[in-house]
Amino acid sequence: MAIRQIIYANDPRLRQKAKRVKQFGPALKALADDMLETMRSAHGIGLAAPQIGLLQRLFVAELPEDEDADDPQSGKPFVLVNPEIVKTSQTEVEGEEGCLSIPTWYGLVWRPEWVVVKAKDVNGKSIRIKAEGLLARVFLHEIDHLNGVLFIDRVESPDKLWQVKPEDLEADRETQVETEAVAEMA
Ligand code: NI
Repeated sequence: MAIRQIIYANDPRLRQKAKRVKQFGPALKALADDMLETMRSAHGIGLAAPQIGLLQRLFVAELPEDEDADDPQSGKPFVLVNPEIVKTSQTEVEGEEGCLSIPTWYGLVWRPEWVVVKAKDVNGKSIRIKAEGLLARVFLHEIDHLNGVLFIDRVESPDKLWQVKPEDLEADRETQVETEAVAEMA
């Protein structure tokens, strides 16, 4: 496995629509493993291929194990290839988001409470997942990346977008008191 270079918000590749993946198998598995490693090393909970400069429709996600002890989807790595939204809840919830490609910035974004997504795994097998709460938010944030959309596009007003100084994030990590913001970078 290898850590890939994450690209940042001014990079035009983050604004393009990614293409469907056609080749499944070991090379795709290796790419997904690299993406998981890259995401974890950057303290993220989601990473889409365009964020490492690859315009392919896949993303990885993983909630920290302790995020919600009752949630069986916590601590489980997800790899979704060619994901499609099948259904979302009517109800939306406003929640905090950050993005590994927009470091230090956080904002409030409305998202459906839950989403049903169909996708392929790295071997081309069909999968279907119902995600709720934070995992639904991550899935929707990552699918946005595949369409060239960033969370800042969905922040309603400037007062719902703010910056956290990097030294504050570092201090939080050192004291093991991670803020929600640190945990929610995707
Ligand atoms: Ni992101």
